[in-house]
Amino acid sequence: MDFYLINNAFPAQVMVGAGALARLEWDREAGKVLIITDRGLLHTENIAKITRLFPKADIYGELSGEPTSAMVDAALEFSRRSRYDLVIGLGGGSALDTAKVVAALHGSRETVAEVFGKDLLGPRRTRMGLIPTTAGTGSEATPNSIVKDSADGVKKAVISKELIPDWVVLDAELTLSLPAAITASTGMDALCHCVESALSVHANPFSLAYSYHGIKLLSENIEAAVADGADLEVRGAMLLGSFLGGLALTIAGTTAVHALSYPLGKRGVPHGVANGMLLPWILEYNLPACAERLMALAPYLQSVKPLESAADIVDLTFEYVHTLPVPQTLDEVGIEAECLPELAAEAMKQERLLANNPRPLTAVDALALYRKLLAKKSTDG
Ligand SMILES: [Fe+2]
Repeated sequence: MDFYLINNAFPAQVMVGAGALARLEWDREAGKVLIITDRGLLHTENIAKITRLFPKADIYGELSGEPTSAMVDAALEFSRRSRYDLVIGLGGGSALDTAKVVAALHGSRETVAEVFGKDLLGPRRTRMGLIPTTAGTGSEATPNSIVKDSADGVKKAVISKELIPDWVVLDAELTLSLPAAITASTGMDALCHCVESALSVHANPFSLAYSYHGIKLLSENIEAAVADGADLEVRGAMLLGSFLGGLALTIAGTTAVHALSYPLGKRGVPHGVANGMLLPWILEYNLPACAERLMALAPYLQSVKPLESAADIVDLTFEYVHTLPVPQTLDEVGIEAECLPELAAEAMKQERLLANNPRPLTAVDALALYRKLLAKKSTDG
């Protein structure tokens, strides 16, 4: 019998449903409250909704793009000018990842660079609530915060159970205004979390339950969410699928898709875009090592064609990126062939993720995979 551990890394309370935020009762009596959000969300209805609940809260809205250690340290410095009882992260993955670190380090003097790694955080004394406004990172479900180190440009992780929030609100109404292209790329990130964790060497029956249901929700709804962003039911399914992806990766981890994605992120390619274009190629690479486990995904994947083999599943993921408004090639995101060896070398530094991959992957393999991303798949015409 397999040996595995089940951790209890799950947010203590989760509220799910369209309009859920207006019904929030947790921590309404909290003393001093800090809301951390993306700059693009300031002056939006989403911020108005949270400030109606916490009218005296301070708002830190200096975040734009994916978080760097300089950005997170600036947010931390802001937070330390006061003594907050509750930190709320509202926004995309950047706002949530920043809020998590701020809540955890608020009472200390450490910088984020000092806690890159696993289990380096002391006990968190500030309560934390997370409210995603995109369906993608699943950050609200994970003990991870991914931050680009401003010193060397490398994306690094802070991993600690202290980053698991006290509560989460999954309110699809907050995601209605997401543009189609961002819905597609963040949705592909969520799908990657579910698929990668399902194929990870650390998958177990519990992570698979999250992965499978997440795959079902995301694959059934991603096209509809892109086509009609105003459909609350579809948006709700995407948000729940993204949350399940976060839970699945917390147990099983992501794999080579995320490992090869990080060097692209370093060069400004949005996280979901990089993952989306890599997913089919990595699955094709992994296929010989995990055909049976790929095939196990078939009942959960939405497909007009019958999925009769693992190769059909790989083809289906190629179809997703062909159909959705996401870039398919490095050319489309401004990455040139000359830098591929550098990308491959950097990807190999993501040892934690590569160790989860079902098929070993060397720098030579990584280079060959990046080369494939230079042109669209030939069968595409
Ligand atoms: Fe991701």
